[in-house]
Amino acid sequence: MSDERRLGWPVAFLLVAVAAAVDDCVVNKSSLAIPAGAWAVQVREDLAFVTGYLSNSLVIVNVSDPSNLVVTGSVQSDENLPGPTGLALSGDLAFVALELATLAIVNISDPKDPEVVGTLDESAEYPYSYSVAADGELAYTLSYDAATLLVIDVSTPREPCVIGKVSGNSLKGAGDLVVIDDIAWVVSADLPGLTAVNVSLPTEPFIISTVQDMTYLDGAYGISVQGNFAYVAGYYSHSFAILNISEPGAPVFLGAVVDKQHLYGAYSVTVDGDRAYVPCLDGKSIAIINISDPNRPELECVIPEVMGGRYVAKARGHALLPSYDSNSLLAFAHFEHSGMEWTSDILP
Ligand SMILES: *[C@@H]1O[C@H](CO)[C@@H](O)[C@H](O)[C@H]1NC(C)=O
Ligand SMILES: *[C@@H]1O[C@H](CO)[C@@H](O)[C@H](O)[C@H]1NC(C)=O
Ligand SMILES: *[C@@H]1O[C@H](CO)[C@@H](O)[C@H](O)[C@H]1NC(C)=O
Ligand SMILES: *[C@@H]1O[C@H](CO)[C@@H](O)[C@H](O)[C@H]1NC(C)=O
Ligand SMILES: *[C@@H]1O[C@H](CO)[C@@H](O)[C@H](O)[C@H]1NC(C)=O
Ligand SMILES: *[C@@H]1O[C@H](CO)[C@@H](O)[C@H](O)[C@H]1NC(C)=O
Repeated sequence: MSDERRLGWPVAFLLVAVAAAVDDCVVNKSSLAIPAGAWAVQVREDLAFVTGYLSNSLVIVNVSDPSNLVVTGSVQSDENLPGPTGLALSGDLAFVALELATLAIVNISDPKDPEVVGTLDESAEYPYSYSVAADGELAYTLSYDAATLLVIDVSTPREPCVIGKVSGNSLKGAGDLVVIDDIAWVVSADLPGLTAVNVSLPTEPFIISTVQDMTYLDGAYGISVQGNFAYVAGYYSHSFAILNISEPGAPVFLGAVVDKQHLYGAYSVTVDGDRAYVPCLDGKSIAIINISDPNRPELECVIPEVMGGRYVAKARGHALLPSYDSNSLLAFAHFEHSGMEWTSDILP
């Protein structure tokens, strides 16, 4: 069987950039000490929200002056925030995925005094939740070990409850998701691949497509969506891939960068205009990728010496990154790059 048929998309058209030389980005850096185990970050206006995995906390940081980050408020609870990982913001609320439970809902209307208002623990049956999406009265999370997407009614934040779920082999190692236009796009590290789940009827979500691949999606831990494109980080494949998802039933690969040196342990993707920011957990770096041509993404430069960074958010032209290893929030201003050489190869 040809690769083309086995993989189910026209590999011949996939462009893969191969790095010749990639410069370090020129950056200004600042940092702020925060409670232990900084994991994920989300930004809204002047405020960054950061989960503290080891400290069972959510910290809110004023980032209006990125060279002078200041803690605004925080909430800590061993009982209600056990192992906080991913988070999503919606209205007055922050939704926090919990590795050791399922979900916590935090009222952030007063950023000086955030308060946990509701929790949900389905971890006996659906363990290890690493990501959450929230849209109005619904939240969506995943169970990494039970290969399941959970749809949660959060219309009464004090009493979140599961109203729908779907499990499947293609959700094995499900670690990250984005929900857009009634489709939950889920990346799974173990299968590995990208799965589209139709959530238009929240009580009956169903899988509509799965793209599997070892070269570009192995250990797919992170996904971001902008327009018709999905951007996926492959942790084991040391890769960044762009897929056309305008037809959710049949996503198509467009371009990718596979680079064991500069994308070592690529963990997640944050897209901002023409650039993608890819924190590489094992490479201890952030790769900045030019995505202005989705068929030909190009590694622009790399921010080195970033310890334990899983996620990036953009605020005021800066890249914010929680550093798990240094219990801090880092802010980088990225100014220029020059002298990069680059070649691209078309696969046979
Ligand atoms: C970098 O940071 C330093 C110290 O805060 C500041 O003086 C300098 O203007 C910054 N560089 C740029 C290009 O903004
Ligand atoms: C952030 O800090 C700035 C400067 O101190 C202040 O003007 C602003 O009100 C603060 N924003 C929030 C949301 O607290
Ligand atoms: C959040 O807290 C504020 C202030 O206590 C309250 O007015 C608001 O109703 C709360 N929001 C939710 C969704 O619980
Ligand atoms: C999702 O399912 C609904 C209900 O079955 C259907 O109307 C809709 O077209 C589906 N969306 C996609 C993108 O498949
Ligand atoms: C994405 O797919 C749609 C539908 O097949 C197509 O019209 C569009 O041109 C594609 N975009 C790119 C950039 O390939
Ligand atoms: C990004 O790539 C496009 C071509 O695809 C190029 O025109 C543009 O200058 C690049 N941007 C940067 C910041 O390198």
